[in-house]
Amino acid sequence: MVRLFNRILVKILPVFPRSFVALFSRRYIAGERLEDAVEVSRQLNAQGFWTTMDVLGENITNLEEARKAKEACLQVYDAIAESGIQSNLSLKLTQMGLKVDKSACIENVQEIVERAKKYDNFLRIDMEDSSCTDDTIDICLRMRKIYPKVGTVIQAYLRRSENDVKELARQGVNLRICKGIYDEPESVAFKNREEIRENYKRLVNIMMDHKAYVAIATHDKVLIDHAYGEIARRKLTPDQYEFQMLLGVGENLRSQIVADGHHLRVYVPFGEHWYPYSMRRMKENPDLAGYIVKNLFRKL
Ligand code: FDA
Repeated sequence: MVRLFNRILVKILPVFPRSFVALFSRRYIAGERLEDAVEVSRQLNAQGFWTTMDVLGENITNLEEARKAKEACLQVYDAIAESGIQSNLSLKLTQMGLKVDKSACIENVQEIVERAKKYDNFLRIDMEDSSCTDDTIDICLRMRKIYPKVGTVIQAYLRRSENDVKELARQGVNLRICKGIYDEPESVAFKNREEIRENYKRLVNIMMDHKAYVAIATHDKVLIDHAYGEIARRKLTPDQYEFQMLLGVGENLRSQIVADGHHLRVYVPFGEHWYPYSMRRMKENPDLAGYIVKNLFRKL
């Protein structure tokens, strides 16, 4: 009954005022400014976590917006170098203009890659919906020719991912493996929770078979236990993989992972465009929406 209420709540969330969503989003977002993300990263570093920063914003509609987003990304690398924090950047290609003009997008990403190179840092290209998969892999491979410390993300819910991982692992590409968050049709994506989990395990194993660096991005204990088993069985050392989690999610689990001697990187989103990101996270976990409402009413 409570679950049903929470699910309905998530459906009607878009009519709630932004200030209500802001209440919830504090948990998932470092703040609106780069300084906020640097401060959150500094605090996480002090607790033994690495971070990756994400300048919020996606699906821009003109190249001027893409240019502004690119400038913000360049500043992230400068701020990391200046502050000395252990962090890197996660980047969405639609924010760089992928859907407006692919060649302009490539130019923007190339500038970001050159800035990463200047500081010997790493760039992760996030994976968006399945209309972006081919371009994302293509741009990642092009950028790796300029500077090899560029990696991307593969989603376990996509049916094509096993082939993609086999090819990318063979080339030694650093991949983050996640379940996938976009609403995809059954023709391209597994829909069943267990099928997605099994595919996730398969993808992680392929990466490890090829000794390619893998970022295991999940809060799912079953998948984390699977990775633990493979790491032990293959006697992997912590320089061959890392775990990753989203800011505000799985905090007890992430502390345990670090206490067990593994690296864990927290995804730290920040920026003015926090609203769509918050809505996605809330849809992903409707229980949280109910929890917020409860707290809201308790306060009143
Ligand atoms: P699952 O959804 O089954 O969650 C496992 C448990 O974690 C839940 O039972 C709950 O307890 C907790 N949990 C999960 N989400 C929560 C939430 N929002 N709030 C509170 N608790 C929550 N996707 C994508 O398509 N492209 C990408 O580039 C990325 N990048 C990315 C980076 C990182 C670092 C992470 C961790 C995730 C992504 N994702 C992503 C998102 C990913 O695809 C997926 O949607 C989420 O990680 C949730 O899936 P889990 O594997 O955690 O399992």
